[in-house]
Amino acid sequence: KTVYLKDYTPPEYLIDEIELTFELDAERTLVRSHLSLRRNPQCHSECVTLELQGEELELLSVAVNGEKLADTDFVITPEAMIIRRVPQDKAFVVSIENRINPAANTALEGLYLSSSMLCTQCEAQGFRKITWFLDRPDVMTRFKTTLIADKNRYPVLLSNGNRTGQGDLADGRHWVGWQDPFAKPCYLFALVAGQLECVADEFITMSGRRIELEIFVEQHNVDKCAHAMQSLKNAMRWDEETYGLEYDLDLYMIVAVDHFNMGAMENKGLNIFNTKFVLARPDTATDSDYEHIEGVIGHEYFHNWSGNRVTCRDWFQLSLKEGFTVFRDQQFSGDRTSPAVKRIEDVNALRTRQFAEDAGPLAHPVRPEAYIEINNFYTLTVYEKGAEVVRMLHTLLGSEGFRKGCDLYFKRHDGQAVTCEDFIKALEDANGVEFGQFRRWYAQAGTPLLTVTQHYAADAKQLHLTIQQSCPPTPNQPVKQALHIPVKLGLLNQDGSTATVRMRDNSATEVTLNLTETEQTFVFEDLPTQPVVSLLRGFSAPVNLNMERSLEELAFLLRHDSDTFNRWEAGQQLACQIIFGLMTDLQNGRALQLDEVMIDAYRSVLSGSFDDLSYQALLLALPEESYLAGQMAVIDVDAIHQAREFVKTTLATRLRTEFQALYAQHHRDESGCFDAGAVGRRRMKNTCLSYLSKLEIEDSYRLATQQFQTARNMTDQMAALAAIVNSYHPNKADSLESFYRQWEQEALVIDKWFALQASSSLPNTFATVQALMRHPAFDMKTPNRVRALIGAFSQANPVHFHAKNGEGYQFLADQVLVLNELNPQIASRMVTGLAQWRRYDPERQALMKQQLQRIVASEHLSKDVYEIASKSLA
Ligand code: ARG
Ligand code: ZN
Repeated sequence: KTVYLKDYTPPEYLIDEIELTFELDAERTLVRSHLSLRRNPQCHSECVTLELQGEELELLSVAVNGEKLADTDFVITPEAMIIRRVPQDKAFVVSIENRINPAANTALEGLYLSSSMLCTQCEAQGFRKITWFLDRPDVMTRFKTTLIADKNRYPVLLSNGNRTGQGDLADGRHWVGWQDPFAKPCYLFALVAGQLECVADEFITMSGRRIELEIFVEQHNVDKCAHAMQSLKNAMRWDEETYGLEYDLDLYMIVAVDHFNMGAMENKGLNIFNTKFVLARPDTATDSDYEHIEGVIGHEYFHNWSGNRVTCRDWFQLSLKEGFTVFRDQQFSGDRTSPAVKRIEDVNALRTRQFAEDAGPLAHPVRPEAYIEINNFYTLTVYEKGAEVVRMLHTLLGSEGFRKGCDLYFKRHDGQAVTCEDFIKALEDANGVEFGQFRRWYAQAGTPLLTVTQHYAADAKQLHLTIQQSCPPTPNQPVKQALHIPVKLGLLNQDGSTATVRMRDNSATEVTLNLTETEQTFVFEDLPTQPVVSLLRGFSAPVNLNMERSLEELAFLLRHDSDTFNRWEAGQQLACQIIFGLMTDLQNGRALQLDEVMIDAYRSVLSGSFDDLSYQALLLALPEESYLAGQMAVIDVDAIHQAREFVKTTLATRLRTEFQALYAQHHRDESGCFDAGAVGRRRMKNTCLSYLSKLEIEDSYRLATQQFQTARNMTDQMAALAAIVNSYHPNKADSLESFYRQWEQEALVIDKWFALQASSSLPNTFATVQALMRHPAFDMKTPNRVRALIGAFSQANPVHFHAKNGEGYQFLADQVLVLNELNPQIASRMVTGLAQWRRYDPERQALMKQQLQRIVASEHLSKDVYEIASKSLA
């Protein structure tokens, strides 16, 4: 059954208050709920029935205003309870008692058991697996919750808001009461019960209020919470300073759980996190892990305003909170680390992953128009492209104008459930501007393509730049309209210095062009010599850019562009052109030879002096295979791999001295130190190690072994193990074995161990993956482990996943069908590995399609898997 945005109607009833009581038990939890309902004054329908959503619930009793209903007064369907007649003229109370079994809940939606603790995940529609309710985000309710449980097994009992009381009961049980003063949609409800340790701290807000901060983890993880706590305090301060937004409750709690479908959840006052985004100790977590933790902690914290205080009217508006909040967390992480590096990482991820989604059968607008299963729409498009749309609004308004708009948005809509349109409207009203055409970004799917041509008129000293925009068709959107695209531009003189950008009377060092037509020409004046154009600076719009450039021009920009993003981008394009050239040589049976331009360019990056070594390391990173694949009409995984490996190996051979020298220069033990300097040194050093390991020589084997054995931080240990595993290093088996034994007790480190092996491009990886499926530490019920093994193999190992005999595809389909029974959300995420089938050669297409068809034809298919598999085939 498909749900459509156009069918939205306001709720017929509202629930002002809910009193919830849980008698918690792993197998038999009793839920008692009193709902204070009334008709929604804004909705005038004739109907006198009340329909509450509920799934997989065992009903014990239901009453209206204290009167127990007879069996004839209501019906229970697999998805709802329909009460035939409820009072229309006054408020009324519906009381429900039902039972659920958290231990049997492997879908990890609703109330479930993770290790020995009970926890919840209600977004998007998990609350209906706890009790019957109006499970939609525009019904906002004040929650009062009482939790009752065995005191030994569940000494800690948490829910949203403030603790209102607690006490012991006669039978070894105890209770804790909670009350959330803010009305909220039920997707923000949470409860946690278990044997948890609390790491506590405090934060004083800008207005001087004292907030208790509490992170709850299992005992053995108490020593891995310091970074998460510091990140939380950083986020709280940052939101005050950047957006003027202060926290609103007296308590902020974070709980880390081992079993979680996504990254984390912003439940009001009680965030629940995947342990992956909380736990870190220098010896167990890499520098990137540290950064991701700070980013996700920030993300969930920022939701308190962009998501909770102002929430979504319906799930089609998901990007209202997610796109905006991702933009906010990107800004935060950039400010905390390096804005240049953060931007490049974000764009790189967007272009490799979201662009692929937008070019395939699952393409959908940032604000989708229809869904079968909403969980399938927590996508790269809604999150990452949504963030780009907000970023463009920020670019168009400037940071002050954007802030004014956000202030109005939060003020105008505090306590409301609103739409993407309301967000744009607030930005417009606060700035006295109109974004008419810009709105199309929310409605139109697909990645636009800008085609750029330039003409320099020497006698007139003018540069004419013509930009055309187009956008390929996407499912249900054959024809596209022109978008409003902000294009940042700078000009460079032949000596590399900045040229003044003069348009009519305005002159500046950089401008933002407003591209609104299908084709537009911009004229730049007063240019005595032909400048080099630096276009789409900072990646000012999520588009593909087609502009002819020579290798020399790209090398020039890589040396001189003052825009840190475009400087990196020039290097990427240089590498892409060269790799594609080599692929043609391969096809024509020519011997491969690396253009000296590339070697010179890399030599100059290696010898350059950089304050930000993380940035230097990024300049040396070749485009990923999946990014290269995205640029090909028919993806040839083997040719991509072979050509790219050739470039990497040749660079290592030719620049060996430089790599070795830089390795030595930056190699020092700074374990436990996470300032930009130390992180950058580790990145540079490990980039060098990765190149040197391509040489397959004794020297590099020794270097890797040495680093592996002496490392006292996970960044260095993991980088060394990767160098060993991805080469023909003689100690591979031993190293993997000793790493496993060292970290057997640390689930998150063992995930890395699985993922590293599953993504190796060396021979026999498929056999390794099959063996790892039978490893005692593998578990289909733990999403992190599934992602580490099956996810890494199918999404980060193109060469082996796309093996010509189809074994990779069959393997994935087998696992999808197993997961479909256990955890539909994770199963459907895994199907996306097959969704891009049309991009491959006919033989692979047939094999992939066959597996998709096999999935669609299976019995008991979840909505989640059905939607993704059937749309992939359509
Ligand atoms: N709102 C969460 C976040 O982005 C994501 C939770 C989504 N969960 C789900 N099962 N769809 O922070
Ligand atoms: Zn979010």
